[in-house]
Amino acid sequence: MPMVVYILAGAALLATVGWVVWRVASHRHSLPCPAWLRWMVELDNPFTKTNRAAVIVEHLQLQPGMAVADIGCGPGRLAVPVARAVGPSGRVVAVDVQAGMLYRARAKAAMADVSNIEFVEAAVGSGALQREAFDRVLLVTVLGEIPDQAACLAEAFAALRPGGVLSVTEVIFDPHFQRQSRVARAAEAAGFRRRAVFGNRIAYTMHLGKAADA
Ligand SMILES: C[S@@+](CC[C@H](N)C(=O)[O-])C[C@H]1O[C@@H](n2cnc3c(N)ncnc32)[C@H](O)[C@@H]1O
Repeated sequence: MPMVVYILAGAALLATVGWVVWRVASHRHSLPCPAWLRWMVELDNPFTKTNRAAVIVEHLQLQPGMAVADIGCGPGRLAVPVARAVGPSGRVVAVDVQAGMLYRARAKAAMADVSNIEFVEAAVGSGALQREAFDRVLLVTVLGEIPDQAACLAEAFAALRPGGVLSVTEVIFDPHFQRQSRVARAAEAAGFRRRAVFGNRIAYTMHLGKAADA
């Protein structure tokens, strides 16, 4: 067998073992994706269309002037195209718990000449988001990293304007992957109603609405 097959098989095995170890460990401890691994997030997932920034942004049906909160924004993979879509009359608040991620997101926004993003270093659930100020809230491959998901979802609910949408994306390649049933249960407990699901069981975006009279 050619050497390259052994090398590829070894790399696949290592990646699988790493995924399993990280997933098991993250059940016991809060292990956010480290900032030095941000290049992996920035690959804009070549394995699944569902997690591509362009696809997520399209599903959001953004309009100029909208306000969007990108929770766990990481290196700004979503925040920058979302800021472009809402235009100069709109705004994005990009929140992340890690300074290293925000550093990269700021640089990316500057390179893209986008100036309608406010960067906030905070843990979600700590009350960093203004109440009833957003049309969309994003949680893209973030929920599984958050120790207190109930507090996160309560903050997302409070931050949305009535009629607003929480958009949750999860993909199986992420060691913190959350199943649809679990996300729906937790979000519904926070007051959301399930509106739509794009993708499939192992790579999906779920939209959850805050009722207009909530
Ligand atoms: C896998 S990355 C996803 C980044 C981005 N949403 C994307 O899809 O490109 C998860 C991000 O969530 C952030 N994060 C983890 N726990 C958080 C918390 N409690 N509050 C805010 N951000 C958090 C991490 O620092 C990391 O940047």
